[in-house]
Amino acid sequence: MCGIVGYIGRQPCTPILVEGLKRLEYRGYDSAGVAVVEAGGVRVVRSVGKLAALEEKLRGTELKGTVGVGHTRWATHGRPSEENAHPHAAGEVVVVHNGIIENYLELRGELSAAGHEFLSETDTEVIPHLIQRFLRDGADLEEALRQTIARLDGSYAVAVVSAADPDRLLAARRASPLVVGLGEGETFVASDIPAVLGHTRRFIFLEDGDLAVCTREGVRITHADQGPVDREVHVVQWTPAMAEKGGYKHFMQKEIFEQPRALADTLSGRLGAGRAAVHLDGGDQADEIARRIGRLHIVACGTSYHAGLVGKYWIEGIARVPVEVSLASEFRYQDPILGPETGLLLISQSGETADTLAALAEGREKGAPILSICNVVGSSIPRASDAVLYTHAGPEIGVASTKAFTTQLATLYLLALHMGAARGRLSAEDLAERIEAVRAVPGAVERSLESDPHIETVARSIMDATSSLFLGRGLQFPIALEGALKLKEISYIHAEGYAAGEMKHGPIALVDEDLPVVALSPQGATYEKMRSNIQEVRARRGRVIAVASESDAEIADHAESVLRVPDFDPELLPIVSVVPLQLLAYHTAVLKGTDVDQPRNLAKSVTVE
Ligand code: F6R
Repeated sequence: MCGIVGYIGRQPCTPILVEGLKRLEYRGYDSAGVAVVEAGGVRVVRSVGKLAALEEKLRGTELKGTVGVGHTRWATHGRPSEENAHPHAAGEVVVVHNGIIENYLELRGELSAAGHEFLSETDTEVIPHLIQRFLRDGADLEEALRQTIARLDGSYAVAVVSAADPDRLLAARRASPLVVGLGEGETFVASDIPAVLGHTRRFIFLEDGDLAVCTREGVRITHADQGPVDREVHVVQWTPAMAEKGGYKHFMQKEIFEQPRALADTLSGRLGAGRAAVHLDGGDQADEIARRIGRLHIVACGTSYHAGLVGKYWIEGIARVPVEVSLASEFRYQDPILGPETGLLLISQSGETADTLAALAEGREKGAPILSICNVVGSSIPRASDAVLYTHAGPEIGVASTKAFTTQLATLYLLALHMGAARGRLSAEDLAERIEAVRAVPGAVERSLESDPHIETVARSIMDATSSLFLGRGLQFPIALEGALKLKEISYIHAEGYAAGEMKHGPIALVDEDLPVVALSPQGATYEKMRSNIQEVRARRGRVIAVASESDAEIADHAESVLRVPDFDPELLPIVSVVPLQLLAYHTAVLKGTDVDQPRNLAKSVTVE
């Protein structure tokens, strides 16, 4: 997904912009560019491909300016090419943009008729041309941007510089994230905090409708409807090192190994000391929603959706509240039945997923109380929700979600306990027992990470497969879906997650001596049934890789390989049993030499529908 960095200060800005773009590489991109305000005008340098290509081009230039913008593009309108890469210019005005301008064809027609010439296929290019038109009509840059954004339909985060106004950097947003970073004698804008975290920790999160005028001294913000506004300055605790690889080969690997710590942070302060209580830490409104609602509709995408599927088992099982789970991209087409009695629970690591935000809007329109589970503080979904439960996993950079998933699960479990206790469905004794079990989760995850070297050897045995099947039942079924998603998205081996009981209704036709079948068969209520499924696969010469409990000595006789998980409370085991599957996907991808942290065609933050 696209990334924006902007700088106004006293230092040459090119290295700051390029470094910022590098820190946004994880978002996925296909081209990049910078624009720097120089004495003779704004200089734009762009290139297709990785940032190294842009750096190569910049080596021949003598850019010294102290005001500029940079961009990484992930194509939505027009193919990846140098002409379509940002920044886009019209005369002296230069713009970078994230999002989609839905009425760009109409605007382009209008501007072309007025003599404006377009050089790209992008929707973005209408923005500098509109600004230029309003400047010609006599507006100053700020007013011209204000009039421009009033004409745009769709979503945008923009940063604007102009040779005619060299001491200002302008920014505006609607439905696409943008922050302003405050330094000493310098001000930054960025689509994502890590881009400029090496320079400042003080951030303002722009709201929809905000227009920010940045100077070396600071920022002045006006809102489209409210006029001048004071936005809170947040001091972000993430250090730049936290957003880096910290000695691991890949961000994904680091994030898998961070899970015990991340889970401890999720639980921290939420489990009552000495007495049986779970604090949601989402404010009074979160407690109120959890207590009051009669039904819950969970909506999310991808990995977050899989967390929601596990959440359904827990909330229905523990609190006896009916739960429906929907993919956000399908939600609005279901004409969902929502209202004050039905809570909407959105789950999102990034807090910026366009489909999930659209579901939120649908819920708002239908009067549902809205709760979210999110990792990124201050992102769009939490800000639009009535209450938010943060996962506190820290920045997740690898495109494949790992620690965000397990911390979402932990948060969902706490929500289930809280709802169960609030409704009198859990005795104090039951609650205390479950709290003890959840306290042990970080330790159990730590133990399952110890199998890492063995999992690498298993990965070697499946790396040449072209297809694979992941089977699970009950609470382990969503984990089968998640294991398959992890393997396919980073190793590009086709993988299907299936409810094990459904195997004989179709996928069993795939089983032969080349098909690895990962069978989630830890101890628990579905163990015997899973054992039967394993036999069915073996009878057809399929290759069984069993995920099994440490104490299950027999399983080794029935499987080609065994991935061990500690003996643990079956109810909480999904948080633990997903770990070997994350490692299996990771090692398979590394052995195959794929781009683990930025798999092809994928983006970390999916801000288009
Ligand atoms: C897969 C993955 C994606 C995300 C999905 C939702 O590893 O990361 O499937 O889970 O794009 O993203 P968020 O949680 O940010 O809404």
